[in-house]
This record gives sequence, structure tokens and C-alpha cells, in this order.
Amino acid sequence: MKVYIESYGCAANKADTNLMKNIIMSKHEIVEDPWKANAIIINTCTVRGETERSMVKRIRELEEIGRKNGSKLIVAGCMAKAQPALVMGIAPEASLISPQRINEILEVLESSGREIRIIGSGTKNLERTIENGLTVTIPIAEGCLGNCSYCIVKLARGELRSYSIEEIKRVVRKAVERGAREIRLTAQDTAAYGMDIGTNLVNLLRELLQIPGEYIIRIGMMTPNNTLKIIDDLMDIYDDDRIYKFMHIPLQSGDDEILKLMNRKYSTDDYKTIVRKFRSKYPTGFIATDIISGFPMESEEAHKRTIKVIEETKPDKVNVAKYSPRPHTKAAALPQLPESIRSRRCREVIEVSRRISLERNMMHVGRIEDVLVLKVDGGIAKARMKNYRLVKINGCGEMLGKMVKVKITEAKTTYLIGELTS
Ligand code: 5AD
Repeated sequence: MKVYIESYGCAANKADTNLMKNIIMSKHEIVEDPWKANAIIINTCTVRGETERSMVKRIRELEEIGRKNGSKLIVAGCMAKAQPALVMGIAPEASLISPQRINEILEVLESSGREIRIIGSGTKNLERTIENGLTVTIPIAEGCLGNCSYCIVKLARGELRSYSIEEIKRVVRKAVERGAREIRLTAQDTAAYGMDIGTNLVNLLRELLQIPGEYIIRIGMMTPNNTLKIIDDLMDIYDDDRIYKFMHIPLQSGDDEILKLMNRKYSTDDYKTIVRKFRSKYPTGFIATDIISGFPMESEEAHKRTIKVIEETKPDKVNVAKYSPRPHTKAAALPQLPESIRSRRCREVIEVSRRISLERNMMHVGRIEDVLVLKVDGGIAKARMKNYRLVKINGCGEMLGKMVKVKITEAKTTYLIGELTS
């Protein structure tokens, strides 16, 4: 059978796609053109309204290809789990498979009928193929401990279920032995890791760092409340050279009242404490955060407080999203702000954030830095600094997977430009 697969959304979803591909390739062929396939899979994301709209459009297109071509359509991922009726409305013949049950993808593919597998949970193999021969993304847990009032992902990914330290260690070791240099640990909330099985992220990292080899770990998104529970031990373990000095801690709002309405379990001061602890050790350390602009009942003052917290804490990157009501979430039932206000606030947050990103990148200009080359694209190498900053290097040939020294010559908003020092 020839199978076409398309993937959207977060690192965890992409890791799910990677797993599905591995399972499929054991028996069938993966093709790059949906018209040449007997089966089409779309692994969906539905975190925001705009994501939902682009998924609906794409499912329609793929459904049409499938209908004309007589091929089977499978809708996988968060939208299949959280909005099955929506999917069925646009693709009545499609099979559905939830993120929890993607290990059953072969049965769904090979079944002669339509399969709906969105209830209950299965077991997932953690092994993933190494992308570009160097980077591997390994899920360490599924679901989360939160219940954020705007979030549809909870519905799709459910309660926290952490994988065991032994199992994660086994797959990381294997990936390192196969040549992985960058290990991305992913989960809906990496900081919650282990809290359901009597351990925590620091214990996991301690174990993983026992694995010999030249690799570097990227720790994925961590909610501030769970990060705060382990912050001191976490900062100790960050000293290891094999952990990127990178933290992704979504603030969502710089106003404590809005955070309460969002049902986030921390205050802006908690967020600031984390930033202070991290940056006092690693002044050039990379902080990524997420902001939702225009949440229901957000006053102009609350919006300004968000901007103020960004100005004070200077995140290196801010993912700004305009609030969109999601089905089956509490916030969707609150009084909504007009679209024009949400858009304007979103633009204002982006503007401040971009200025700060550039400012933070500028401080690297003129420095000599060790970087790990992870990709070479059209004569330009893409490398990561120890603090996860992206550095583009011209004319860098045989350097893939190597640590090289570069002089940073220029700063852009989202990356740096460097040249090799001989
Ligand atoms: N509206 C806008 N942004 C949202 N996010 C999650 N849910 C919503 C929503 N309903 C954003 C959050 C989260 C990121 C993955 O997506 O900022 O951190």
C-alpha cells in the first residue's frame, strides 16, 4: 500500500507522526504525493481557531483527492479526538484515530471499512527516527496536570501520564548510539514530568546525563507553576554542558486576574522568579514564552501589564497568539472582546517582543561562540549556540554534526549570522 502522511502542530504531534511513519514503513511505502497514495493520513492540530480553520480547509482538499482517487482518508491527532463531529461533517467517510491510539495505525490502514478509534488509551513506543541524522524528539509524557480555561488540548491529550525513566533512558541511549546529537524532550508540560509516578524532571535528567556521548538536551515547554516546584534543583542540573541554556515558560498573561480566569496556577511574580533565577546564572540564556492577547475580560490595563512584564523580563522569543474561543472550554462562555481589540493588542505585544528579541540577539555580536551544526541548506549552515540561539553560517561544508567556533557578525530578530574562525 502507498501511504501519504501530513503533519501539523507541536513537537509532540510531529513525534507522533514520526512514530506512525515508522510503523507504516515496516509494511508499506510512504509517498510524497497524495494523488499517488492508496491512503492519506493527516495528523491534525486544533489548538487555536486559526489552526482549526486551516485543518478544515486541508481535510476538505484531501477528502476530495481521496474521493476522486478512491483512496482512504485517515484523520489523526488532536482534532480527531477533540472535535470528531466537525471532522465527520466535512469528511463523512474518514477514519478517525486519537493521539493515544496512533500505534493502531496499521489496523486502521488495513481495515476494509471505516475505523473510529478515539476512545481509550493505547501504549506508545517511544523510539523515534533521527531527523537530519542529528535531532531526535522523544516524548517523555502525555497530557498535563492543568485545566486551563482556554485550552482544547487538554480534551485531546488528557491527564498526565509519564513514561518511566528506564524506558526514556533506553530510547535516548539508543538514539545517541545511532548518532543523535540533539535530544529534544517533549511533553504538553515537561515540568510536570513524573509527578504522576513519584518522580520528577530533575531525576529524569540526572539519569539521562549518565549516558555517555556528545549530545545536547533541549528541554521542552514547562508551565511556571510546575517549574517553580523544582527550580533550584533544575538550575543545578542546567550547569551540565549537555543541556541547552533554554527555557520555554509560557506566561500567557502579565495580569494576575487574567491568569486566575485562565486557571493558570501561578502569578506573574512566580514567572519573574523563574526568569531571575535562570538569568542570574545564565545572563545570555534563552527564554521563550507564550502570550495570549485579548483573553475575555482583559482590560486595557491588564494588557499593558502584560507588555510591562515582557519589558521587564526580556524574553528572547515570545509566541503571541490572539485569543480564540475553543469548543468545550470555559473561557468560550465568558464575554468576548471584539476582534479589532484582540488584533490590536496582539500586534502591540508582537512589536515589543520583536524589539526585545533583536536587543537580546545584539549582545552576541562580536563574540566568538561554540556552535553545533545541525543542518546545511543551500550552502548555509544552521547551528545552535549553547543557549539555543540559531546561528546561520555561510559556506560551511563538511561541518554537519560538528561543534565549530564562529564569530557572530550580525544580529537579526530571530537568528544570528556568524562566520567560521580558523
Ligand atoms: N487562543 C489563543 N491561543 C491559545 N493557545 C492555547 N489555546 C489558545 C486559545 N484558545 C496558545 C497558548 C499556548 C500555545 C501553544 O497556544 O499561548 O501556550
